[in-house]
Amino acid sequence: MKLEGKVAVVTGTSPNIMGGIAEELAAEGARLVAVDAREDFVNGCAESIKRSGGEAIGVVCDVTDEEQVKRTIGSAVEAFGSVDILVNGAVKQNRKGLLGMPIDEFRAQVDIILGGALLFSKHAALQMIEQGRGGSIINIASTEAHGGSPGNIGYATSKSGLLNFTRSIAMELSEHRIRVNSLTPTATDVYEGRDRAERWGVEWLMPTGIADMAAILEERGRMTPLRRLPKPSEYGKAVAFLTCDDEAGMITGFDLRVDGGNVARFWGWNPADGPHDWVR
Ligand SMILES: NC(=O)c1ccc[n+]([C@@H]2O[C@H](COP(=O)([O-])OP(=O)(O)OC[C@H]3O[C@@H](n4cnc5c(N)ncnc54)[C@H](O)[C@@H]3O)[C@@H](O)[C@H]2O)c1
Repeated sequence: MKLEGKVAVVTGTSPNIMGGIAEELAAEGARLVAVDAREDFVNGCAESIKRSGGEAIGVVCDVTDEEQVKRTIGSAVEAFGSVDILVNGAVKQNRKGLLGMPIDEFRAQVDIILGGALLFSKHAALQMIEQGRGGSIINIASTEAHGGSPGNIGYATSKSGLLNFTRSIAMELSEHRIRVNSLTPTATDVYEGRDRAERWGVEWLMPTGIADMAAILEERGRMTPLRRLPKPSEYGKAVAFLTCDDEAGMITGFDLRVDGGNVARFWGWNPADGPHDWVR
């Protein structure tokens, strides 16, 4: 197992992507601290890991509140003795564009995505520095960080901010052998999240009903160069690789795109139309 003896703090552990990442890290031997604003999600995640033979605790925490963040890092140390890995994934959706975005809503969204990543990175890094044996921080970005995204100004702006936040703190923390990277997911298969929610016994409301979502996802999958959308567990395996010092020990300040080729795709080619041919 890649992460035996490591303690991982993961924020935003809904049954979707971050729950999938948490379960993959635990499957690789990490002791898991599941963090979310929702108690049913942190408990569902921790209990599921324990049922599979792993070690985990759930901590309810608002990632924008510095005292709660400090307490959460303290709870991780109290339960498991250290913090070696942090994965920042807590997010708030608010699909509004420039002309319709109230400034207080913009600030609240940026505060969760960027402010939350800053607070958790700061207090996890302070703990890692005290421990003196390095560490690994992963920020979860999005394909919306890599291109102009209409109607989602708070999210797209915050997520692209996370990319340079990652590079900047990677430089700051390098002297302490704390590696910092980001991972870019794309539109994601929701069936694994639905099954995980059932397994955890929690209610997880997808942005639209499952039938509508299935139709949207089928189309997005066809548009993706690898012709399907990734599952949360596939992001989890990539996070396990990036956080494993034996495998990725010289990787820092990097963005690993697990997006089926979506960011690499030339804008004028839609894989759903078949081979690229301008003159068709
Ligand atoms: N779902 C996708 O298709 C997709 C695509 C690209 C990137 N991503 C990224 O992957 C990550 C996970 O996405 P998801 O779809 O699983 O998200 P999700 O909406 O299912 O879960 C986000 C979690 O963050 C928690 N949260 C919100 N505000 C919080 C706060 N102040 N403090 C603590 N917790 C808070 C919510 O309670 C929720 O459980 C996010 O960073 C997202 O931007 C998702």
